[in-house]
Amino acid sequence: MSDGTVTLFVNAAQTVTCAGPARARRDTEMQDAAVQAGVGVAVQGERIVAVDHDAALRGRYPDAVEIDCDRGVLAPGFVDSHTHTVFGRARYEEHELRATGVPYLEIARRGGGIHASVRDLRARSDDELYSVAVPRLRALAAGGVTTVEIKSGYGLTVHDELRSLRVIARLADAGPLNIVPTCLGAHEVPLEYRERPDGRAAWIDCLTNELYPAVAAERLARFADVFCEPGVFTVPETRRLLTAARSHGMDLKLHADELHDGGAAMLAAELGAVSADHLAAISPEGIAALAASSTVATLLPATMLFLGTGRQAPARAMIDAGIAIAVATDLNPGTSPLQSFPLVLTLAVSQLRLSAAEAWIAGTVNGAAALGLAGETGQLRQGFRADLAVHAADDFRALPYWFGERLCRVAWARGRACHL
Ligand code: NIG
Ligand code: FE
Repeated sequence: MSDGTVTLFVNAAQTVTCAGPARARRDTEMQDAAVQAGVGVAVQGERIVAVDHDAALRGRYPDAVEIDCDRGVLAPGFVDSHTHTVFGRARYEEHELRATGVPYLEIARRGGGIHASVRDLRARSDDELYSVAVPRLRALAAGGVTTVEIKSGYGLTVHDELRSLRVIARLADAGPLNIVPTCLGAHEVPLEYRERPDGRAAWIDCLTNELYPAVAAERLARFADVFCEPGVFTVPETRRLLTAARSHGMDLKLHADELHDGGAAMLAAELGAVSADHLAAISPEGIAALAASSTVATLLPATMLFLGTGRQAPARAMIDAGIAIAVATDLNPGTSPLQSFPLVLTLAVSQLRLSAAEAWIAGTVNGAAALGLAGETGQLRQGFRADLAVHAADDFRALPYWFGERLCRVAWARGRACHL
């Protein structure tokens, strides 16, 4: 499509505009997905140029090309603000081991878990890593996702972390999805360091003195993230890591209080992290701290489901306290091999007890805010990126309802069709 051409998305049964302020939504604001009837979207180049009634759009752009939404749901593309898409093989053995009662962190202590994916990634070429990631992105797009955050974190050497981030940059350059890169060098203490008496400190030094400056020099990551969890990185270690990452120009995310409360949510608030993610074990103090901050809480209900913990983040209490909630897949080989964003909406309603509208806002506007993109994507609004999707349903509540169903028919990212 040349830049001058206007494309109209018309004939939708419902248009979920999510229109409103270009910032994270909290509290009752999450209840309004601004769903409209008879409204279409005009796209020119990478941007939405108008959102209006079909007749008004046709009057204004008589020469436009039309895409018939066929009485479906027209909506912003989903923002998957937490994934680990660049990894090698699946970890089937661990899934079964957990079913016999071996906990996730115990598997890691035995050298499996993240360490298994690290061994695997180090043995693969850049091209292989690229090619295994592409179908995963395609699967996400097939569910209506148009923006994807991708973390490194399975390299755990300076060389392999940089390699992972360069693969992520290549995926971003290839388009059409919007890709946001995050450096998760602090995903674990690599086994070769764990075996040394001074290993933890040496790995943290390596991250702060070597990896972060190298990532910054090549501008390979927008965010830095740390797995802050008892048994992985402590709160003081995480504070040190994230402070160093910030001094190299990265904004902050945390894997926080996923399985045990270690005070990570409070640290996220203290540091002004853009998001704190997981939070299934958040304490009342953590809730109060996030409520008083601008940090988005990104909840990953598929992870808790797949781990079989029988537990979920206290989403309703968090929303009531005034915390902005996003949801994401956490796509990764250990705890969430999930490539369907609509299934996350289902879990948001059925497990986190959000309304359908809240789940939509969590997967669009608040996902965008969790990536610092609240003014760019996540809403059908003039001037926003042309990131949108059409779903074969006549009601926006169908997406969380028909769980496991693939309803998305068309997804466009930055004004380009994602060929599914
Ligand atoms: O978000 N918790 C840490 N990281 C991932 C899992 C990584 C893995 O097990 O490979 C998560 O759950
Ligand atoms: Fe994760």
